[in-house]
Amino acid sequence: MKDPVPRTPRRLRASHWTGPHLGPADAAVRARALSFGSVAAEYAALRPGYPDDAVAFLTGHPPRHVLDLGAGTGLLTDVLVRAGHDVVAVDPAPEMLGELTSRLPGVRAAVGTAEAIPVEDASVDAVVAGQAAHWFDPAPAAREIRRVLRPGGVLGLVWNTRDERVPWVAALGELIADEARGHEADQGVVDRLAAELSADVQTTESGIVQTVGPEDVVGGIATRSYVALMDDDRRAALLSEIRGLLAGHAATRGRQSLHLPYVTRAYRLTPR
Ligand SMILES: C[S@@+](CC[C@H](N)C(=O)[O-])C[C@H]1O[C@@H](n2cnc3c(N)ncnc32)[C@H](O)[C@@H]1O
Repeated sequence: MKDPVPRTPRRLRASHWTGPHLGPADAAVRARALSFGSVAAEYAALRPGYPDDAVAFLTGHPPRHVLDLGAGTGLLTDVLVRAGHDVVAVDPAPEMLGELTSRLPGVRAAVGTAEAIPVEDASVDAVVAGQAAHWFDPAPAAREIRRVLRPGGVLGLVWNTRDERVPWVAALGELIADEARGHEADQGVVDRLAAELSADVQTTESGIVQTVGPEDVVGGIATRSYVALMDDDRRAALLSEIRGLLAGHAATRGRQSLHLPYVTRAYRLTPR
């Protein structure tokens, strides 16, 4: 079977960005996309994983060669490995991949982007992206995804979104709405990639609950790209407002353990 990546991963530096072409607005996108490296350890500890059923929906059951694109610290990679897949992880942030390889030493990891994937042609059965496809430039990314997929291969996209049907989670969402606007995944990302790939799209919805302390909720928000790039005073003010909310809301006041629910939306794109 063809090996998807060379055993010695190609190293790209942040300054060797091969992602979207840069105008002034795009430079801000690049800064946000690369901000993850500065919060890698906290990201690995504080962000939610993915439900097994959603991941099985993306990949199918028999063990396969899977490329985790925008793999970050490996929260999705971990579920793929436990399901028996042979996984290659690609991400532009070496710090994120450092967390991944220390937690999952058996996984091959390479620095790269969706727009320049360091993986051989027709070498994987599935490309998956967890909480990452909204960072991709759809046209070049779709060209690369088509190149690395074997005939009949699929693209699986998955996002966790805080479940704001729960009142304290809705209050948290309101507090950060102004900062978060435009940063969350939306159906448009799936539609654009599906159009570029002429793909049929199937979807499923499930959920996951994180059991966390109040400071973990604060720390998890601090790993969001729009918070990681704030100046120190602004970030401290926002995080202090979140602490105030958790200390004052009837559902969270005085509690050391909180259940933070997420809705998980998974999309399987089958290129025609
Ligand atoms: C929110 S994190 C998700 C990480 C991981 N997949 C997970 O589920 O926890 C988004 C990741 O996308 C990566 N990323 C940003 N721009 C990218 C691009 N153009 N191609 C591939 N990955 C990218 C970031 O470095 C970051 O690790």
